[in-house]
This record gives sequence, C-alpha cells and structure tokens, in this order.
Amino acid sequence: MIKYLGSKRLLIPRLLTKIDAIGGLATAADLFSGTSRVGHALKKHGLRCSANDHNVYAHTLARCYVAADADRVREDATALLRELMAAPEHDGWFTENYCRQSRFFKPENGRKIEGIRIKIEALSLDPTLEAIALVSLMEAADRVDSTTGVQMAYLKSWAPRAHKPLELRLPAILPGPGEAMNLDVLDAAREVEADLVYLDPPYNQHSYLGNYHIWETLVRWDAPDIYGVACKRVDCRDPARKSAFNSKRKIEATMRELIAAVRGRHLIVSFNNEGFLDRELIEEMLGTRGDVTCDVVDYKRYVGAKIGVYNPSGEKVGAPTHLRNREFLFHVALDR
Ligand SMILES: C[S@@+](CC[C@H](N)C(=O)[O-])C[C@H]1O[C@@H](n2cnc3c(N)ncnc32)[C@H](O)[C@@H]1O
Repeated sequence: MIKYLGSKRLLIPRLLTKIDAIGGLATAADLFSGTSRVGHALKKHGLRCSANDHNVYAHTLARCYVAADADRVREDATALLRELMAAPEHDGWFTENYCRQSRFFKPENGRKIEGIRIKIEALSLDPTLEAIALVSLMEAADRVDSTTGVQMAYLKSWAPRAHKPLELRLPAILPGPGEAMNLDVLDAAREVEADLVYLDPPYNQHSYLGNYHIWETLVRWDAPDIYGVACKRVDCRDPARKSAFNSKRKIEATMRELIAAVRGRHLIVSFNNEGFLDRELIEEMLGTRGDVTCDVVDYKRYVGAKIGVYNPSGEKVGAPTHLRNREFLFHVALDR
C-alpha cells in the first residue's frame, strides 16, 4: 500500500482485538478511509465494510480494497495488469511536470507511468477493474518515488528506490462485497449506519490533498493548472476542497457535529497526542454519546520524521525533535 501520513498499519492489531472483545459486530463504516488499510483489515476479519474519503485517490483505494470482490475480478485484473505493463511509454504533461519541472520520479519511470495511465483511459474499463488498475499504478509509482513520504517536496538527490524499474502488481483485493463513498464525512455519517463506525480524522493543519496531490492528479487525469516547486494542483488552494479537520478554528465544532451525526452501535475514534484536540476534550465530546474508554498506544512517528525536515526545494533544513508519539484509541458504546 502507498506511504501515507497517519496510516493505521500499526494500530490495526489493536483495533481487531478491540472488535473481538466487543463481539457481535457484522458491519463497519470507516469514514476517513485514506489508504483503506483499516477497511481492508476489517473486511478480511469478516465484517461488511463501507469506506469513505473526500479525496478521489483515496476513494479509488476504497473501491479497490473494500468494494471490489476478488472472486469476481481477480482473473480479469491479472490479465489487465499484464496488458498495461506492455503499454507504450509516453513523454507528455505528467513526465514534464513531475520528472523535469519537479523531480518526483525519474523520467524513464514517469514515461512508463504516463503511458500506462493513457492506456487505462483509452480502454474505458469496467469501474471496478479501472479502480484496481489505478491503485496498482499508484502503488507502483509510490515504490519508485523520490520523496520522504509526502509530495510537498522531492529529494534533492534521487532516493535509491527511484532508480528501480516501475512494476505493476495485483493489489491484495479480498473476496466479498463492500461499499466505497466519496463524500464529506458529515454527509457520509448521515448516510451510513453500521455496527461499528470508525473515525480517523486528520489531526493537524497538513492537508492530505496537498500531501498527495500527484495521486489525485494521476487518478483524475485532468492535467490541472499547477503552482510552486512541488507542482501542486491549484485546487489545493480552493477553500471548497479544504477539510475543516485541518483548521484549528473549525475542528472542534465539526468534530462535535460529526460525533452527534454518527449512526451505529459502537464508535471507535483514533487521534494523536500531537493534534489540535486534546484527550480530555475528545473524551468530553464522545461522552455525549455514551461511556468512553481510551487505550494509549506508543508509536513511532512517520518515516519523514526519521529522515529529517526538508524545505520545498528538497534541502534538509532540520532534524526531528522526537521519534515517538502516542495514538489514542477511544471507544464508545453508543447509547445516548
Ligand atoms: C488520518 S487519514 C486516515 C488514514 C487511514 N485510517 C489509513 O490508515 O490510511 C485522514 C483521511 O481523512 C480524509 N479527510 C479529511 N477531511 C475529510 C472530510 N471532511 N471528509 C472526508 N474525508 C476527509 C483525508 O483525505 C485522509 O485520507
């Protein structure tokens, strides 16, 4: 799966233990799905899952990892990826902007990515197969990028992995049904009802669209106007695409509204000790819906924190202050 800030890979075993301890859960809704690794793990654990995210690249990940039924599409997807690997290279908008104007990928990989993306568009695929192909391409590109894990900047010297050849692999799709939504979280919370609702909101000012703008462009394939050293999409600056959870001023009221809107039997919320909301405040908010418990998980910070602090030109400008933080896992049995 792609490198992703705030990805819950290490928290998943805890989450599954909690789910087993609660018992009797058949459906789940992951309303801030990101990479969809939580929805994927819950589906694998036997729950019927809905995953929602407001960014289109994340929605595509959810269509692949949560909604696609591997029993129906595995064979066709395998053949499709083989066909896409043979697509002719193309040196156009993508290669120019992300390999020469900026240096997120080596041009030989940029041309390959661009050729495959053009082929996906030309094939007018069934939507599920299209999502699997796009995720396979996103993940292939992620394995050969030259960043610290976010697309705010590229490295001044090529990352060793950037020299590797691009390779499409079949994503780990799972058998069975599921749903993927592309809504603002407040609309999603009103729309779905599930035994378990899981909330993993952004916890600080860093926008996911800004951090992963190339994935958004690769999936939308809309050749947007771009700005700055990192060649970001102009809609990264559009107020309509900003998340209230990235705003210190708006997050508290929006989180209260979200907690009030959630429909289900159990609510689990992840939050970080370095975020805009502190533990006591979240406990008070959640207390409006039922009794709250909180597990504290000691955590390694994201990969960029280990590598150091870089400016938009890819130069190292500082060392990280600390390498560990804490993740809170709140649980409420909803009875209010
Ligand atoms: C902390 S990440 C989730 C990470 C995810 N649990 C994982 O393991 O990959 C938060 C996600 O919320 C999404 N998001 C932010 N604001 C949103 C909103 N208002 N509505 C829906 N999704 C939103 C972001 O695009 C991002 O993918």
